[in-house]
Amino acid sequence: MCGICGIVGHQPASPIAFEALRRLEYRGYDSAGIATLTAAGNIERRRAAGKLDNLEYVLKEHPLPGTTGIGHTRWATHGAPTENNAHPHEAGRVAIVHNGIIENFATLKKELEAKGRVFVTETDSETVAHLVDEYLGQGLAPREAAFAAIKRLEGAYAIAMIFKDHEGLLIGARHGAPLAVGYGNGEMFLGSDSIALAPMARKMTYLEDGDWCELTPGHVTIFDMTGAEVSRPVQDLTFMAGQVGKDGYRHYMEKELHEHPVAIGQTLKRITDPASKRIALPEMPFDPAQVPRITITACGSAYYAGMVGRYWLESLARIPVEIDVASEMRYREPPQPDKGVALLISQSGETADTLGVLRSLKKAGQSIVSVLNVEHSTMGRESDLVLGMDAGPEISVASTKAFTAQLSVLAALAIDFARARGTMDQAREERLTASLLDLPSRAAEVFTRTKDIQAMAAVVAQARDVLYLGRGICTPIAFEGALKLKEISYIHAEAYAAGELKHGPISLIDQTVPVVAIAPSTILFDKTLSNLQEAKARGGRILAFTDAEGAKRLEGVAEQVVIMPDVDAFVAPILYAIPVQMLAYEVALLKGTDVDQPRNLAKSVTVE
Ligand code: G6P
Repeated sequence: MCGICGIVGHQPASPIAFEALRRLEYRGYDSAGIATLTAAGNIERRRAAGKLDNLEYVLKEHPLPGTTGIGHTRWATHGAPTENNAHPHEAGRVAIVHNGIIENFATLKKELEAKGRVFVTETDSETVAHLVDEYLGQGLAPREAAFAAIKRLEGAYAIAMIFKDHEGLLIGARHGAPLAVGYGNGEMFLGSDSIALAPMARKMTYLEDGDWCELTPGHVTIFDMTGAEVSRPVQDLTFMAGQVGKDGYRHYMEKELHEHPVAIGQTLKRITDPASKRIALPEMPFDPAQVPRITITACGSAYYAGMVGRYWLESLARIPVEIDVASEMRYREPPQPDKGVALLISQSGETADTLGVLRSLKKAGQSIVSVLNVEHSTMGRESDLVLGMDAGPEISVASTKAFTAQLSVLAALAIDFARARGTMDQAREERLTASLLDLPSRAAEVFTRTKDIQAMAAVVAQARDVLYLGRGICTPIAFEGALKLKEISYIHAEAYAAGELKHGPISLIDQTVPVVAIAPSTILFDKTLSNLQEAKARGGRILAFTDAEGAKRLEGVAEQVVIMPDVDAFVAPILYAIPVQMLAYEVALLKGTDVDQPRNLAKSVTVE
């Protein structure tokens, strides 16, 4: 994680860097800093612990001059989130910003200390500054010194550097963490992603792993890891500047929750044939009928989307599915079948663990299909097929609309596979597709239930522990609800498949532990009802998301219900994810937490 940016041009660099950092703050907000070159060619830095507002205050008091600069917003890995550990790090003639982890920093640091270098921070990143300066001291020019240093780094990094006495020079490098070059008018930029670059550049180039580049005003030269000059495609920026405002909502999360209907609708639009109203996914680079197994991997909410996807793919397309979180899958080394398909799910397309699995499963001969919101991300570029969602930029750290967009793609994929494998007749296909296409309207209806969700939130906000229960295809939605509550309200929440309640968690239940049930009146409703009665019998306060039929049957059992629009059981997990996320949001409002930037988290987790 961490966000980095760089500017070489003719306008004051510091305000541009600050604007880029605002847009990158979702990647980490433990500290922030900017360094620029003064007219005399000296490096000056301003840094502050905590959020960007603190840096803004420092910059107001002590503005930074110069038209060449770098910026950083940090999610701490090595060293506490203090001002001293904040980037940019300076050593002699160079200042650097770094996103990632330098895995061999201890060895490099020892070597540099032996040469008399004094380290002043607890970070791994400072090593890079010293290493570059060491090579500069040996008489190498900035470009050569940067290259010599980069070649010695192990781990993951995106780096930007500026050099004393070299106005109009910026060097960037990437390996395992994203970095993009932005093209302006007589100015050039570096940014961790397109969102950072959107206000100042109209075109951009994503560097490939191992690439590094030299930027001067109006020009970029890109090199690969051998030092050979390479050319990389230039693309139009897809995220425009205005798309990432809050549009009058209190938080990005609130705005993004309200964008569920549009995110689902736009996503489905891309994968449906408007004339036949049938699912029309891009052609697969394999024959779906011949696929022996799908291996789904993801992290966080995307993993829960994958859990729902497994239900659909197994039950509709009768295809065996293996699934795990990426950080486990990466080191499990499960045997991979011949002609198998790896399905990676990620909003950002940059999550280090998921990317690691993508690469290892590619090596293991699996076809790589990824479900991504940011299609030009590293995962997108390394996949055999990208199934793009169209959720638009998601800024709030807690994922919302990307989750339902992921589910929409996975539902369509299950239908597509089922058709290709002959496991679903046309009538059923039409019914399921219709229920999917009807979802944007049903999703919009959910917001008419806000008052009921707020009433439920008032109960949850009093609790120290909350239990979420689901059954079957709604179990992953219970997990999503518990994750969201933990993430943004800091209330401890556990999710369980309702049937497991009696095998342990029931012992936790008393009047102080609300039980939130995700319970549409589908085929497993009776069983869920029994489980809820068991919880109620132990004094549990039952709060349920259900439909009109379910609400009737929960009378006397549930203390509060949110009555959801009636939908086909197939799409229930997509619809029920919305109020579950809204509940977490409403609880967070009551608790007064920092909804968009919860403590210790970052949105794009580009370290292992
Ligand atoms: C972080 C975010 C989650 C997200 C997860 C996976 O933990 O806080 O909201 O679900 O990363 O991110 P990805 O970009 O791979 O979907």
